[in-house]
Amino acid sequence: MNLTLNVWRQKGPSDKGGFKTYKLSDISEHMSFLEMIDVLNEQLLRGGEEPVHFDHDCREGICGSCSMYINGRAHGPQQLTATCQLHMRSFKDGDTITVEPWRAKAFPVVKDLVVDRSAFDRIIQAGGYVSVNTGGVPDANEIPVPKKIADEAFNAATCISCGACVAACKNASAMLFVSAKVSQLALLPQGKVERKTRVEKMAAQMDLEGFGACSNTGACTAECPKGISQDNIARMNREYFGAKFTSDNV
Ligand code: FES
Repeated sequence: MNLTLNVWRQKGPSDKGGFKTYKLSDISEHMSFLEMIDVLNEQLLRGGEEPVHFDHDCREGICGSCSMYINGRAHGPQQLTATCQLHMRSFKDGDTITVEPWRAKAFPVVKDLVVDRSAFDRIIQAGGYVSVNTGGVPDANEIPVPKKIADEAFNAATCISCGACVAACKNASAMLFVSAKVSQLALLPQGKVERKTRVEKMAAQMDLEGFGACSNTGACTAECPKGISQDNIARMNREYFGAKFTSDNV
């Protein structure tokens, strides 16, 4: 298929940036979206131009690196799909595709489509550790966990920290991401020991990083490539207020 690409080009954090238009021909519908950008970059290199910078790592929908806006949607038109898992068969011959980086104050653009998502790392870091009793390896079923709770914790743990929730939210809120991380630990017995301090510290760091507030529009869940549920946000709010009212901190 033949395509026209409008790609955001920005030399660095202080550069104003802008869209550049490129033509691509003979793109296979079986290519992934990132492979299509690889083809573009080979074309740019042959022409002596700097390739488009973009983040990627696993290309299997696991690492969350491949964050970009495609035609105004986080990770593109296909639901529950990260950019690296999006295939060109989702587009038609002759399409014009617009590609942009995440837009959020807490995710400054580093270059082209690459943004700095280290704010997420600092929120995770603020959450601290999970207490474990060292010693002999315990049997896997030594601590019984009800199936429903285990499933909910697992679903929360499927968050790949890509930042689509922030990019999709009109407030650039990180509540879906933070609530998934809070939930996956708060739900399980091993994570309950520090649950109060964890949610307080992670929420404080989230505010410090400049993310907006949640106003329950649901864009985060709708655009999340892993379908992380808003139920996690409700759980995080319960965890947070529970911690505030019964805090051991003096
Ligand atoms: S490159 Fe890892 S999730 Fe897309």
